[in-house]
Amino acid sequence: MCSKVQNPVVSISHLSKSYGKINALLDVNLDIYAGEILAIVGDNGAGKSTLIKILAGAVAADSGKIIVGAKEYRYLSPIRAIRLGISTVYQDLALVDCRDVVSNMFLGREPVIAGFFINRKKMEKEAEYVLNNLQINIPSLKTPVGLLSGGQRQGVAVAKAIIQGGNVIIFDEPTAAMGVQESTKVIGLMQKLARDGMAVVVISHNLHHVFEISDRICVLRHGQVSAICQTQDYQPQQIVELIMGVTAKDRY
Ligand SMILES: Nc1ncnc2c1ncn2[C@@H]1O[C@H](COP(=O)(O)OP(=O)(O)OP(=O)(O)O)[C@@H](O)[C@H]1O
Ligand SMILES: [Mg+2]
Repeated sequence: MCSKVQNPVVSISHLSKSYGKINALLDVNLDIYAGEILAIVGDNGAGKSTLIKILAGAVAADSGKIIVGAKEYRYLSPIRAIRLGISTVYQDLALVDCRDVVSNMFLGREPVIAGFFINRKKMEKEAEYVLNNLQINIPSLKTPVGLLSGGQRQGVAVAKAIIQGGNVIIFDEPTAAMGVQESTKVIGLMQKLARDGMAVVVISHNLHHVFEISDRICVLRHGQVSAICQTQDYQPQQIVELIMGVTAKDRY
């Protein structure tokens, strides 16, 4: 759970990004803490994916900074984001379908023997350890990732992030295309990551899931933060109103 005495692992400070006349993000401030699940919600076009892309180093902000540890950054490249421990898990991206589970988990970071031969045994041992630890059930480490279910693919992507040394894991719409059983597994995985001390950030349109798992909710509207709430202090209807920008005057 987040606590005010804890230092944030990542701080977003006065971040703005526009595309032509559209303010995708406008002066966004947000702290991310270890051991908590932070949900980011907002209507279509509210700026959620833009914020995540900036954290993942895929997009540069026009102004503002990202503070990780004691260092300030104006822009994180994808490699720098990963080096700083920030991993983004997209449902269908970043995995190579035709390659197996182990190869995907170590893609580009394969351990080698004698500076040349890929150490497959070491990869398998480590992959098995991480998958077991996360309680992710995969038929076989040799299964091509393209044959896995959506939930299993997410599991592989998370395990890959852990192997890369991530301590902030961002999920962009993780359960959007999933059935109830798969969603439940992915939710359980996010809860376990937070219990293990990771900072978990999840973008979701599913308020039922948001209320089930999050410690805090950040509501984005037209690129601006309209509220950052402790989930337990709010009702779903209040969050809907914040997302829609409903005021007391509109209500009566
Ligand atoms: N590459 C881009 N070029 C131009 N406009 C963009 C680009 N990326 C995002 N935008 C615009 O910025 C705004 C925020 O988009 P963003 O994708 O961050 O929204 P979102 O909250 O993720 O929405 P959704 O829930 O639909 O995924 C939108 O108006 C979008 O059209
Ligand atoms: Mg989006």
